[in-house]
Parts: sequence; structure tokens; C-alpha cells
Amino acid sequence: MSVQPGDIRDDDRRPPVNELLEVAQHGLGLKPKRLPSWLFYDERGSQLFERICEQPEYYLTRCEIALMEVHAGSIADTLGSEVRLVEYGSGNAHKTHILLEHLHAPVSYVPVEISPEPLRQSVERLAGEFPQLPLQPLCADFSKPLRLPIPPRAPRRTVLYFPGSTIGNFENHDAAVLLRKMRNEMGDAGGILIGVDLKKDPALIEAAYNDRAGVTAAFTLNMLARLNREIGSDFELSGFAHRAHYNPMAGRIETHIVSRHEQQVKVGRAHVSFRADEAIQVEYSCKYSLEDFAALAARAGLAVQHAWTDPARMFSVQYLVRAGTVAR
Ligand code: AVI
Repeated sequence: MSVQPGDIRDDDRRPPVNELLEVAQHGLGLKPKRLPSWLFYDERGSQLFERICEQPEYYLTRCEIALMEVHAGSIADTLGSEVRLVEYGSGNAHKTHILLEHLHAPVSYVPVEISPEPLRQSVERLAGEFPQLPLQPLCADFSKPLRLPIPPRAPRRTVLYFPGSTIGNFENHDAAVLLRKMRNEMGDAGGILIGVDLKKDPALIEAAYNDRAGVTAAFTLNMLARLNREIGSDFELSGFAHRAHYNPMAGRIETHIVSRHEQQVKVGRAHVSFRADEAIQVEYSCKYSLEDFAALAARAGLAVQHAWTDPARMFSVQYLVRAGTVAR
């Protein structure tokens, strides 16, 4: 089935560009300053994220792909036949390719992605690789309620696929709210297949967010470049630095953009002052034990039916269903 660019549904709930100024002014007015991590993902940011995934220190992608390669057959058996697969944040559909190769008679694949260009590219590629599979791309913010396209035939179940440990970018409360929303979207018989990064030696985790090639630093600072491009702010990029530290108490990487010296930046009509070393908090990347994640799932009315891990327990892929419906 060939997918034309016009087939990509845009449900109008992507954050409009004119909202950016408001978001930036609001976040930079907070004490401490804070900007939301979705601001990373303009076209350039999405490209940089793909490059992060190729960095030797960024074990997450490598481990998840290896896990999928070993366990895709067992995962497909667990999901069962005639699944409608809805992928949240389908930027690079590499892992999806492995899954789709193993799924038994899938009904349709619905990639949900906020950035139109990566969505278009991944759909074009998948349409060539899986010509029989109905593709129903949706350009939308997956953290908001979704209007899923009507499937071409009735699926046995809807499985929401959320790889990459993107759930870790949500704070605990927000992660539970998102999982609860997903629970509603998947319906009674549905499930969630989710990639979850695991707690491990903090040095390994910190290295993953401070790669030697500086790609993560470029990704982080692109947030300011994006604001300059889209709302005409005048951040001097060389005046700011990327900082990512593992907070062992909270079990998460905390990423900040740090002002190298005292300075003022124009953001719309506002002038934002920075002290030397003042930080803007821009991202959390939470890491979980299997028990931590089961507890989070339980807060959302979900239970872990199966968790696949690699031998070194670096990463996990977990299948969640509504609590009380776990098949043993
Ligand atoms: C998308 N997300 C899971 C990545 C992470 O690991 O938190 C984003 C990222 N930020 C810096 N490096 C990668």
C-alpha cells in the first residue's frame, strides 16, 4: 500500500508555533528556570536524537534493538494475532521493523509522531518494506488524548507500542497519568509494549548522556537554537553549556542548560536575566528497577504480564495489561 503525504492525518493538536513564545516566557520566568523537553524535537533536534542513538555510550538503543532481535518471536506470541499496533513517538521505526516482521497477521500500524518529516520518512520506508500492511500515520502529540483512525478491519486487540524508554522523560506523576491515558486508549483487551531503561552503574548512565563526540550537548543546545529560529530570541549559544548528572536518590539523569556567565537574553518583549552558572532544567530521564516500574504501572491500573531483559539487565521491554487480566 503506498502512502502519500496527504494520507498523514494531522489532528491539529500539535503545539502550534505561536505557543512557543508563551511556553518559553513562562518556563524562563519560573524559579528555577525550566523548559519542557518536547522543545528538543524540531527537525534538527530529531536528527540529532537519531545521531545520539548511534553513539557508543548511548547503550539504550543498542540494547533495546538487541533485545527485540532475540525476543521478537516471543513478544509477537504474547501479543497474539490480528493486532492493531499504535506506536507512540515513532521517530525512527527501526525497532518497529523487527516487531512488524514477527507479528501474526497485524490489522494495521498507526505511527503517532509530532514531527511531520520523520513521520513521512518512516511511513515511506515501511510502506516499501511491508506492502501488505495498512499504514495509518497520525501526526499528533501522543501525550494528549488521541483520535485514532478507524482500522480497516476489527482488530483482536490494540497494542500501544512505546519503545525507547521515552516514558522515563516523564516525572512519576505524569508518567502514571500518561499510562492511565494509554490504558483507556487500548481498551479492555489491549496492552502496552513499552521500553524501559533499568537502573545500573551510574557511570554508565552518565556517559550515555555525555557522549564524547558532543552530540548530546548539541541536541540539548539546539533547544535554544530552535527558540532563536522560531520566536526570534537571541540566545548566544556559546554562552550556554549542556550538563547531565545522574541523581541516584531520584534515579534519573537531570539535564540542564547552564549559563556560562551573567547575561541577558531577549525572548519576545521580555528580557531574561541569567546569573553565571544559572541552570535551565530541560529534561529528566528516569531509570527504573523492575519493581519500580511494576509499581508505576500499578498506579495506572496496569500490571506487567511479561518483562524481557538482556543478560546484563541494562534495558527491558515490558508488556502491560489492565490489572486483574494478567494471563499466567
Ligand atoms: C527520548 N528519550 C528517551 C531520550 C532519553 O534517553 O531520555 C532523550 C535523550 N536525551 C538525551 N539523550 C537522549
